[in-house]
Amino acid sequence: IPVSPFDLVIFGATGDLARRKILPGLFHRFKVEQMPEDARIIGAARSEFDSAAFRKVVRESLEQFVGEADRPANTVEQFLERIDYVNVDAMGDKGWDALSDLLREDKVRAFYFSVTPSLFGTLAEQLHKRGIATPESRIVVEKPFGHDLETAKALNADLLKCFNEEQIYRIDHYLGKETVQNLMALRFANSLFEPLWNSTHIDHVQITVAESLGVEGRGEYYDNSGAMRDMVQNHLMQLLCLIAMEPPSRFEPNAVRDEKVKVIEALEPVAPDDIVRGQYYDWNNRVGYKDHAGNPESRTESFVAMKVAVANWRWAGTPFYLRTGKKLRTRMSEIAVIFRDPPHMIFPKMEGRRGNALVIRLQPDEGITLRTTIKEPGPGGMRLTEVAMDMTFDDALGEDLHAQDAYERLIMDVIRGDQTLFMRGDEVESAWAWADPLIENWKNSTQRPASYDSGGSGPEESMMLMHQDGRRWRSVG
Ligand code: BG6
Repeated sequence: IPVSPFDLVIFGATGDLARRKILPGLFHRFKVEQMPEDARIIGAARSEFDSAAFRKVVRESLEQFVGEADRPANTVEQFLERIDYVNVDAMGDKGWDALSDLLREDKVRAFYFSVTPSLFGTLAEQLHKRGIATPESRIVVEKPFGHDLETAKALNADLLKCFNEEQIYRIDHYLGKETVQNLMALRFANSLFEPLWNSTHIDHVQITVAESLGVEGRGEYYDNSGAMRDMVQNHLMQLLCLIAMEPPSRFEPNAVRDEKVKVIEALEPVAPDDIVRGQYYDWNNRVGYKDHAGNPESRTESFVAMKVAVANWRWAGTPFYLRTGKKLRTRMSEIAVIFRDPPHMIFPKMEGRRGNALVIRLQPDEGITLRTTIKEPGPGGMRLTEVAMDMTFDDALGEDLHAQDAYERLIMDVIRGDQTLFMRGDEVESAWAWADPLIENWKNSTQRPASYDSGGSGPEESMMLMHQDGRRWRSVG
């Protein structure tokens, strides 16, 4: 379905995110004819380019980040015709009039801030005071949204001076992932799971976002953030919210976001013993996180695992275990919902029984597995075994699953004016209010992060976190 005609201005249009994700994403939407005839993309950045030079950058980014078979030459040419460029000085006067002249009165206006967060407020103010943003305009801001509660509040306040909440689209790209949206469909479009979705039936939940890459050239940013700020406060928190939230009354932005905020506000502080931090190290090559971060003294965590309690009626007594880390064995994200054992077993004890589990695989091999207990076939009597009822989305849905990347989906939602998959200001602040004390405690502690092998499953201490509760993590790949 095509969206309304728009002018999309990308600040930081020559930067990494724009070249890697935003421009290729827009190209895909153009190719499938979701971008209307007169939609336009306007790059804005400090580089002294003209439109022709910027189109060259766009062409190169497509060559690099879109497979050859997916970019027929004539489609690329047509896409490039939609592109303009203005050399804008975010802090000064240069370029703003030219930008204003390019924008059309009757089109949706969206401004994507793909720049360093310290410029978010300045850009908002420039757009506002120069009358470039209209009351219908939208702004899109990338993570990191603040470094802690205080900076997130200041950022929200800066943006809200110039725009109202309905105009602000805070991106968490995990919410744009097809399988993450599927979590909501799974929970709220089926009657099968909801009656079981509580602490009476669920023993615990495991949320794992494992990455095989290290900090790859982002050492400086990452060393100031760590896994807690980079992944847990935003992406894992969003996954936790979608799993734990109450059914919203409507699939509408505020109804959904109200329920997510309630989950974050119900989180109990995490006890220091319930959190494990780690740093990767490759013993074979004698190189590790600290080398990649360029900081031999670094205590920043490239891995974190924790036990989290959602203190409300539905979840009291069901812990949520979260873990995420770089340089783990594989790239694998999943949510495993582990059910309680039947209250009374009438069959002989099964060695190694793990019990019923619903595993939602988010990436890469997207799908759902339901682990069930059945009779072991054969004449051995009533012996039990476990099998996985497996549904791989690729088989069930074919190409549709990969039809759009998270960014494409989210940018189109901005144009449609749908904020459901974007974070509201209070949501981000609540998540920081929860994360800040954990980060602060860590800062004040003398403990060093536990070392873990590159290519492994994380520090031994993270295994203990589960073992001490008589549980165990699912394997990382
Ligand atoms: C980003 C983090 O937000 O998410 C990165 O800054 C991380 O450190 C990335 O690698 C993971 O995203 P995805 O989509 O590859 O799971």
